[in-house]
Amino acid sequence: MFSSFRFIFTAACAVALHQVHAQDSTAGQTVYMQVCFACHQPTGLGLPNMFPPLAGSDWVAAAKPDRLIRIVLHGITGPIQLNGQPFNSPAPIMPTQGTLSDEQIANVLTYVRTNFGNKAGAVTAAEVKAIREAEKARTAMWTQAELEKIPVN
Ligand code: HEC
Repeated sequence: MFSSFRFIFTAACAVALHQVHAQDSTAGQTVYMQVCFACHQPTGLGLPNMFPPLAGSDWVAAAKPDRLIRIVLHGITGPIQLNGQPFNSPAPIMPTQGTLSDEQIANVLTYVRTNFGNKAGAVTAAEVKAIREAEKARTAMWTQAELEKIPVN
C-alpha cells in the first residue's frame, strides 16, 4: 500500500517536472524566435563567418550557465574562439539583450541548452537574477578574456 502510494507520487512528480520543463522550453522558443533567431538562425546553426552557431557550441554546453547569462545580459564583442577555433566575423559584436526579463533569459537559455542537439542543464530565473544583481554596475559588452575568468565547472 505504502510502496504503491510512493510509486504513484514519484510518477506524478516526474510528470509535473516534465511539464515544467516543456513549458520553459516552449516559452524559451518564443523568445528565441523573437530575439536570437535573426542572427543565430532558427536552426541554431548561425551563419558562417557572420554569426556563430549555438548548436554544438562549447559556450552553450558549459556545465554552469554563468558565462551564457552574462553574454545575454551585456552582449559580447571582440574575436571569440568556438570549440577551440577562431570564429571570424566582420563585426564581432552581439549587442546586449538585457531588456529581457530574468524569466525570459532563463527560458531562452534553457531552450538553447536543450535544443539544436545540445544536452546541457536548464537555467533558472533565480540564477539570472543573481548574476544581473552581481553585474549591475556593468555597462560594457564582455570579451572572451573577461568571461574566461568566470568559472563554469
Ligand atoms: C544582432 C545579432 C545577434 C543577436 C540578436 C543575438 N546574438 Fe548571440 N552572438 C552574435 C554574435 C555576432 C556573436 C559573436 C560575438 C563575437 O564574436 O564577439 C554572438 C555570440 C553568442 C554566444 C557565444 C558564442 C556561441 O555561438 O555559442 C552565445 C551563447 C549567444 N550569442 C547567444 C545568444 C542568445 C541566446 C541570443 C538571444 C537572446 C542572442 N545570442 C542574440 C549575434 C547575435
